[in-house]
Parts: sequence; C-alpha cells; structure tokens
Amino acid sequence: MCMKDVLITRRISDAAEQTLAEAGLSVDVGTNEPMPRERLHASVPGRRGVICLLHDRVDDQVLVAAGPQCRIFANYAVGYDNIDLEAATRRGILVTNTPDVLTDATADLAFSLLLAAARRLIEGDHLMRSGRWSGWSPLQLLGRDPTESILGIIGAGRIGTTVAQRSTGFRMRILYVDQRPSTEIERFGGTRVDMPTLLRESDFVTLHVNLTPETHHLIGAEQLALMKPTACLINTSRGPVVDERALVEALSSGRLGSAGLDVYEDEPALAPGLRELDNVVLSPHLGSATEQTRARMARLAARNIIAALDGRRPETLVNLDAWKRD
Ligand code: GLV
Ligand code: GLV
Repeated sequence: MCMKDVLITRRISDAAEQTLAEAGLSVDVGTNEPMPRERLHASVPGRRGVICLLHDRVDDQVLVAAGPQCRIFANYAVGYDNIDLEAATRRGILVTNTPDVLTDATADLAFSLLLAAARRLIEGDHLMRSGRWSGWSPLQLLGRDPTESILGIIGAGRIGTTVAQRSTGFRMRILYVDQRPSTEIERFGGTRVDMPTLLRESDFVTLHVNLTPETHHLIGAEQLALMKPTACLINTSRGPVVDERALVEALSSGRLGSAGLDVYEDEPALAPGLRELDNVVLSPHLGSATEQTRARMARLAARNIIAALDGRRPETLVNLDAWKRD
C-alpha cells in the first residue's frame, strides 16, 4: 500500500489539503464524520504528520501506533485537552494548535450568547414561530441590560481580552480572574479580583480558560451559589469547566438568571433537563465556525505540518520541550 504523508482525520476546510499539496505532500482525508477510534488507530501508522480534531482522543496508544517517523500532530483547535501532551513530548512528537486565528470569532460568539441570553432573543424567536404572538406588550420577555453592567472574565488570555475589548462598546465594568495580572485586559479597563469577588459582583460571567485538571468543574454548585440570582453564565471554552448538572439545578431553581453555552461536558449529549430550560441559550460548539476562520485554521494547521516536516519550528508549537529535545 502506498502510504500518504499526512492524514487529516475528518473533512475540514479544503485550504488544508491545498496548502499541503502545494508543498508537495500527499494527503488522505477522513469522511464528514468523526473518525472512529479503531479507524484512527488503523490510519495513523506510517504517517509523517496528522491533522487531528478536538474529538479525536490522541493518547499514548495512538502516538505509538503512528510510529517513530511521525513528527507532528497538528490539532485543528486552540484547545488541546484531547491530546496527551506529556506522552507526545516524551516521544518527541510536536503538538500544535490554532490560536490567534480564531480569537475574534470565539469572542464574537461569546458576545452573541451574552446578548441573546440578556435580551431573551431565542425565546422571542420561538414565540414568533409559534404563531402565539398577540402584539407589543409592556411586560413581555423583559431581559437585562448589558449596557453599564459588570462583566466578569475568567481567563485573561487572547479570547478573554478580546471579549473585554468588545465590552467597551457597552460601557461594561470589567472584572477578571487570572493567575497573572494582564496589562492587555487592563488597557480595556479590567480590574483583577479574586474568584469569589468576581462571582458575587458580576452580572455576566464568561469563561476563557483551557481545560486542565485544575479547571475541571471550576464552576460548580458552590461557585454558582455565589452568583447574583439575575446573573448570566457564558461558556465558550470547554464543557467540563462547568459542572453541567449543577448548572441545570441553578437555572431551574431560579438560583441563577440565565446562561449561554457553546460547549458541553459530554458532547454531543446534554445534561438531563438542560434542553427543557427557557433561560439558557444553546449553540452547537460554534466558537470558531465562520468560513474565514475555519479556512485560516486549516492553513495554519497545514503550515505547522509543513514546517515540522521541513525541520523548522512550527508557528504555534504547544510542547516546546519536544522541540528542544532534538
Ligand atoms: C474549539 O473549540 C477550539 O478549541 O478551537
Ligand atoms: C486562547 O487562544 C486564549 O488565550 O484565550
């Protein structure tokens, strides 16, 4: 069998394949569906590089199956919690992600969820489609003002900072939590506080952290209990950062005002009761889902593969130690 250089585990923007082909690399592409685990195992051996997706669990077994000639796994996402980084580093396999190119798109989606939840846009849409709307009414579907509200940003990285930038147009007061002070977010008026202060004072809380063992269930029953009963929680990061069952409980008991979610603990499944709630806006993991952004992610992943196979350091290398080893 003639083995192609690069595997792309699922059909993504054509820009990836084009960029790789222009560099003289041969490419196999999966189908429109996630590649089943057994197929992933059977498809990686002999590859020089792999473009993988956030639902591909790349553990040590997959890395071993790929073989010693494999130089890089390029994740088609900014998050890389699906990859065993430590194992990749130990085996000298480079791991890259797609930061920066999706920052604006993800910040825009976080803001879309915030506005939709605040102004009850989806409930309004459902009412219009139901044929039950009887005309303007003074007390119908009253939401909450984003303008001059307090925005709590958890994680002051690129996306959190870009959300802060968006919020200045709404004259929001910005509180943030991060391990380190960020001059970037402070440029937009952000004040660094501790987590309980942020949760108690914010009208909107938005999550922009990576999923790690430390951020798993960062927001659970205890944290939700600190939030204002009118507050809104936005999650465009990773589902397991929030205890989804505790969130359903807080939203259904009126303990929390509303939520806007793009990511879920056990995608594509939802926690029991979540889909029945009116006070939550649900989107299907659309953070980076624009034509332009997905094409930029595809080109970046492809450039990372090309660089690694040329012996150059990829632009967005995650495990620097795997590079330093050589
Ligand atoms: C998408 O969720 C990403 O991490 O890029
Ligand atoms: C991701 O790119 C982040 O830093 O928020």
